[in-house]
Amino acid sequence: MKVLLVNGSPREKGCTYTALSEIKNELERDGVEAEIIHIGNEDIRGCIACGSCGKTGRCVFNDAVNRVGAKLAEADGYIFGSPVYYAGIAGQLKSFMDRLFYVYKASMQYKPAAAVVSARRGGCLSAFDDINRFFTINCMPIVSSQYWNQVHGTKPEDVLKDEEGMQIMRTLGQNMAWLLKCIELGKQNGVSAPVPEPAVRTNFIR
Ligand SMILES: Cc1cc2nc3c(=O)[nH]c(=O)nc-3n(C[C@H](O)[C@H](O)[C@H](O)COP(=O)(O)O)c2cc1C
Repeated sequence: MKVLLVNGSPREKGCTYTALSEIKNELERDGVEAEIIHIGNEDIRGCIACGSCGKTGRCVFNDAVNRVGAKLAEADGYIFGSPVYYAGIAGQLKSFMDRLFYVYKASMQYKPAAAVVSARRGGCLSAFDDINRFFTINCMPIVSSQYWNQVHGTKPEDVLKDEEGMQIMRTLGQNMAWLLKCIELGKQNGVSAPVPEPAVRTNFIR
């Protein structure tokens, strides 16, 4: 079992990384492989709605989206982390997730996921919601913790001192490991993910 943890901060080893590392350690303690992927300092274009991915299965921009997209199938769960920027997620992560989910959503369906945010002081919940919205439109069970998944600080040392935040991360890691094991046991006992109906798409006109 494996979890991919995406660091959407431009700072490779900053506060978001510190939170993700605590989750990674907890997952590994529970026997789950974990890998942190840093995408937040890359030049990531927003979606240009060209529709090319519908024909090729890849994004026209050959950047972190296709690179991480190719790794999604090997993972059983996902965690996306972001610093809070003006009460939302970092722009790079938003561009990344828009395109990743548009092209590779099938690779993540029915796999558990969680959002993590880091802020100096405020705006955590709206950023948390920015990430969770991707999961709830893609049949992905959301893993929760004892509180909303947020840490506080402007540098890693601050986050390490945020004892409650760090505990929230450890609980999240434990809960993710537990759910992954339950899903795996379910599969071994004939409980698989549902087979979805052919999608019905309507709009507000008719
Ligand atoms: C452009 C920008 C906008 C920010 N907006 C907020 C904000 O709305 N609320 C807040 O508490 N901190 C804000 N911060 C501070 C970061 O969210 C905070 O320092 C975070 O923990 C940094 O995480 P990182 O080290 O992983 O990048 C902002 C920082 C930057 C650079």
